[in-house]
Amino acid sequence: MDTIDLRSDTVTKPTPEMRRAMAAAEVGDDVLGDDPTVIALEERAAELLGKEAGLFVASGTMGNLVAQLAHLARGQETIAGRHHHMVLHEAAGHAVIVGASIRTLPEQPDGTIDLDEIREAFRDPTDPHEPITGLVTIENTHAFSMAQPVTPAYTAAVAAIAHERGTPLHIDGARFWNAVVALGVAPTELAGPADTVTFCLSKGLGCPIGSVLVGSREVIARAHRARKLLGGGMRQAGIIAAAGLVALRDGDAGMIDRLAEDHANARRLAEALASMPGILSPGDIAQPGDGPLDPSRVRTNFVLFRVDRDREAFLEAVRAQGVLLERFSPRQLRAATHVGIGSPEIDRAIDVIRSALDSTGRAAVTVATAASPA
Ligand SMILES: Cc1ncc(COP(=O)(O)O)c(C=O)c1O
Repeated sequence: MDTIDLRSDTVTKPTPEMRRAMAAAEVGDDVLGDDPTVIALEERAAELLGKEAGLFVASGTMGNLVAQLAHLARGQETIAGRHHHMVLHEAAGHAVIVGASIRTLPEQPDGTIDLDEIREAFRDPTDPHEPITGLVTIENTHAFSMAQPVTPAYTAAVAAIAHERGTPLHIDGARFWNAVVALGVAPTELAGPADTVTFCLSKGLGCPIGSVLVGSREVIARAHRARKLLGGGMRQAGIIAAAGLVALRDGDAGMIDRLAEDHANARRLAEALASMPGILSPGDIAQPGDGPLDPSRVRTNFVLFRVDRDREAFLEAVRAQGVLLERFSPRQLRAATHVGIGSPEIDRAIDVIRSALDSTGRAAVTVATAASPA
C-alpha cells in the first residue's frame, strides 16, 4: 500500500523528465558566473515575471532573506501580515541576520491586509524614537487563509501605498504560480507592481530544490551579494537548476498549468470532508467561525480543517491506513495536494478519513502542538 502524503506540496519527487534534464545539464562554477543552466533558469524566471534579472537560491526562506538584505538597512522595519511565513517560520532571520524588526498586521480571510492599516503602519522617519519602514511584504498564495490567491489589483494597491513613501514591495510567492493559475492572470500582471518576487520551484512545481528571486538588475545584484554572505553561493548548481527549467516550460511540457489539477483535487477532497460529521471549519482567518467546512474556501491546493475530537488520535488513525496529514496552526490540520496526488489518491484519502472518523470518538479536547513550518 503506497502512502498518500498530503502533508505538504514539498514532498514531491522530481519527474522522470526532470531527472533526465538534471543528468544531462551543462554546468559550470556558478560562483564564477559560469553555469549556463543556472543563468538560463534565472533569465527564464525573470522573463516570465517581467523583471530584469533573477537569482537562483537554495530555498524560499533564502529567497526572502536575500530580498530583505537587498532592500533593508540594519535597524529598519518591514510591514508584514501576522501569519506570514517570514514572520512565523523563518527562525527570526529578519532579526538574527537582517537586523530588522517586523511590524505585523492582522490579515483578512481573503489573505489581504487592510490597506488603511498598511498606510497607518508606516513609521515617522523624522522621529528618532522609531525605526524607519524599509519594506512592505505580501504573501501569495497566503497560507493561513487556506492559501487564498491575492489579486493583481490588491498587489497594485499595496505597491502604490509603499511606493508613495519610497518603500519597496516584496512578494513572498512561495506558491506564486498557484495564485497565477487560480486567478487566471498573467504572471507579469501579478508580479508587475512588486519590486521583488520570490517563488519556490520545490513546492507545487515539483522540483527537488530551489527558489528564484526576481527584480531589477540593481536589486538582484545586492541580493547576489547577500546570497554569498549567507553561504548560498553554489558551484555546479545547474544540476538542480535544470529541473527548474523543465518546471517553467510552457504548457503541458512544464509544471505550471497542471497546478489546476491540484486545485480541483483539493476542492473535491474538501467537498467530501464537508459532508462528514466530525470535520469542522478550520476557524481563524482560514474560515472564521464554527460550523462545517466550506469547500468554496479552497481556491488553490490547501484544505485546512479541524476535527471535533482528539487531533492526535485522528492523525494516528489516518496514518495507520497510509494517509499523512499535517498539523497546521495549533488546532488545524492540512491536506495539501500536489503532483504526487491524483484522483485515485483523493478517493482513497476520502475513504480513510471517513473510516478514521468512525474509529475515533468525538471529544471536547484538541491537543495543541507546534504549527507546521512549511
Ligand atoms: C509562504 C511560504 N513562504 C516561504 C516558505 C519557505 O520555503 P522553504 O521551505 O523552501 O524555505 C514557505 C515554505 O513552506 C512558505 O509556505
